[in-house]
Amino acid sequence: MKKKCSRKKIGAVLLSVMLSLGLALALAGCGGEETVQTQQGNVATQANGVANDPTASVVQIHTKGVKPKKGHRGDAVPADAEQTAAQTPYDNASVDLTGIDPEKPMIALTFDDGPGEGTERILQVLTDNGAKATFFELGCNVEKYPDLTKKLVDAGMQVASHSYSHPDLTTLSKKEVAKEISKTENAMAQAADHQPTMLRPPYGAINESVSSQLAYPIILWDVDTQDWSSRNADAICAEVEAADPSDGDIILFHDIYTSSAEAIERLVPQFKQQGFQMVTVAQMLAAKGIDVQNGTTYCNA
Ligand code: NI
Repeated sequence: MKKKCSRKKIGAVLLSVMLSLGLALALAGCGGEETVQTQQGNVATQANGVANDPTASVVQIHTKGVKPKKGHRGDAVPADAEQTAAQTPYDNASVDLTGIDPEKPMIALTFDDGPGEGTERILQVLTDNGAKATFFELGCNVEKYPDLTKKLVDAGMQVASHSYSHPDLTTLSKKEVAKEISKTENAMAQAADHQPTMLRPPYGAINESVSSQLAYPIILWDVDTQDWSSRNADAICAEVEAADPSDGDIILFHDIYTSSAEAIERLVPQFKQQGFQMVTVAQMLAAKGIDVQNGTTYCNA
């Protein structure tokens, strides 16, 4: 079980993003075809020292018990870059915490790369169990399935950005990054009159140059269910059991696979029975009183 950001390494402020070589991940691309992409970054937090990969950059990261540093607002977009719509500071106070008990354990289920084949089933089981979750959607899939995006928003799910076409943002120019962001915002505005307030970079790949440009809090995860790899509900459930989720975890799934939907249909009632409140990432960070800032990276709460 790989943990994106180890919650045991309190105080770690350095994030090393190493795109692992040789591993390939097939993702459902926009346009119906399967595209093969490099597997997401193997990320390690380090208590000190320098990132041990020449392609990696130091980014600001918030982990449990560590207050995020200030000064990384997303206002550093160069004049020649396309402006994004989310230029204002992140507003924790506007997050709806109705029905959430901050004293009780909570987890944030997150779904990347959709909307897609599993989205409808996942939404159904979440709704049936009074659960909320966060969907980091690709702008190109929002354009493909605008009705699904609207359904998620209308059901009170958090719909956030995962870029437009799933590139590694750290390989793009500032102008190209801004375009990925603004095209996704436009797609969500069109589909559901919705403005995302958080972003998960594809592959979890982020560096200082990109994070300083983004007018969003950057959300990674600390539990990876490996659903993109196994494509098997039993294996996904086994990964979750091995990870033994606890209060404040952000758990990574993908809603483009029916196997993930099948696993979620089993897991959501289990989490409920275990006493977890299933909330959005925005709700979890707000409920735990974390001072959320644009341009800062969060892996858990
Ligand atoms: Ni992705």
